[in-house]
Amino acid sequence: MHNSRPRRRLRRALRRIGLTVGLLVVVFAGILTWLYQGADTSTVGDMDFANPLHIPPLLEPKVQPDGSKEFDLRFTAGTTQFLDGVDTPTWGLNGPYLSPTLRAARGDRVTVNVTNGVDETTTLHWHGMNLPGAMDGGPHQQIEPGDTWSPTWVIDQPAATLWFHPHLHGNTADHVYRGAAGMFILDDPAASSELADSYGIDDIPIIIQDKAFNDDGTLEHREPAFSFVGDLGDHTVINGTHNPHLQVVTERVRLRLLNASNGRLFNIGFADDRSFQLIATDSGLLETPASLENIQLSPGERAEIVVTVTDGERVILRSDPPDLGMNFFTERMNGGDDTFDLLELRAADDLQPSPPVPEILADHDPMAPADADTTRRFDLTDLAINGQQMDPGRIDVVVPAGATEIWELRNRSGTPHSFHPHLIHFKILDINGQVPPPEQSGWKDTIYVPPDSAIRIIGRFDGVVDADHPFMYHCHILQHEDAGMMGQFVLDNGSESDQPPPDGTSPEAGAPDHDHG
Ligand code: C2O
Ligand code: CU
Ligand code: CU
Repeated sequence: MHNSRPRRRLRRALRRIGLTVGLLVVVFAGILTWLYQGADTSTVGDMDFANPLHIPPLLEPKVQPDGSKEFDLRFTAGTTQFLDGVDTPTWGLNGPYLSPTLRAARGDRVTVNVTNGVDETTTLHWHGMNLPGAMDGGPHQQIEPGDTWSPTWVIDQPAATLWFHPHLHGNTADHVYRGAAGMFILDDPAASSELADSYGIDDIPIIIQDKAFNDDGTLEHREPAFSFVGDLGDHTVINGTHNPHLQVVTERVRLRLLNASNGRLFNIGFADDRSFQLIATDSGLLETPASLENIQLSPGERAEIVVTVTDGERVILRSDPPDLGMNFFTERMNGGDDTFDLLELRAADDLQPSPPVPEILADHDPMAPADADTTRRFDLTDLAINGQQMDPGRIDVVVPAGATEIWELRNRSGTPHSFHPHLIHFKILDINGQVPPPEQSGWKDTIYVPPDSAIRIIGRFDGVVDADHPFMYHCHILQHEDAGMMGQFVLDNGSESDQPPPDGTSPEAGAPDHDHG
């Protein structure tokens, strides 16, 4: 009986704790539910597509006496009206937002004079380009305000839709979000001439970005609770145009899709689920077109599609919820349940006929695991690769020039990551042991690596040996990259591997060219 009072007190205390915990759980669950319910964004039905889509002009090069093409680009600060009547401070190249499009052909020597006309140090990187490390525009090729940097190289890779963007370590996300980026179209005289290629008419750049705006019109860093990918905008702009439409004048139109967002994945298709033909991925044409209804693009990835329209119709290019490979809660918190109406195609009443898409688009040299000299493993954890964060003074990987390597990418976190090696393009050997689908079977330079997945890629490291100018490999979710999810590799004159030519330059720089008889 003596003990019953303390025991009773204890029981009462426990009950109180239990009630408190229970209450906390209810409150916490309530908050999570509230967050979950408010976390999906949809712009379907919100738009009337009133604005004509801006087509970035093609930048005219100065052709030098030796035939080389010289382009001038200048970082510029200005304002852009995305929302009617609201001025948003932005950056661009040769204008207030984005850049004119650069276009060159295989075999061209190009020089780009890049002038920094803004008041912050930056860089300009040629994403997807096979070029010497000193010309790459990565974090080491900094351009101070007022300075001009003039990289020059010879285009030697297949026709493709590449792009360029700043790459200043720690500031890439911010500089890209402000708008300093553009498209770089590569042509190949050997490629099929039956594909639509009248820029701005039947061959259209589609630079897709998400944006958010503060009340005063400035760009908002909108990072929702439980976002693992940084900013996720609640608006989309195409080529810098919000609420856009495109007048289509030909029966078939080629769209060069580029996901130039910082952290958002898009899953692109049409509102009426019509199929389209996928003709190219990041680094060039597919061997044969693939008929699809959707294509998912993580930040930095590109795809070229051809869609057929009929006289007078309107159809909406839409991003359906992407599959991030997360659980139902984190999926939603990272944009996995979001839908965006991107662009309305408005077909003319009397469309000009277009030839069908050729059945054969390109001839790819096969890349088989047996071709590889080495396999390396890259473990992606929360903000590190192989347990390391970016150190500009450390070379992480040395690759013998000319070597063919398998890189095994493993996402060992619950966080979305992607992987982009500079210099090379690659083929995907397998995704979790499975043969990749058609949209992942072409040449690539950037790949989404979902949580807990393993992807093997294979590529040939042709290029100039230069120990002083490393290439980057990194997660292309820009906030992760800035936070240190990046490493550096150099090419060297490996003794055990293929003999590099004396000057360290491969005559076949660019397209893998193994002969398998
Ligand atoms: Cu598009 Cu290293 O980047
Ligand atoms: Cu790159
Ligand atoms: Cu990442």
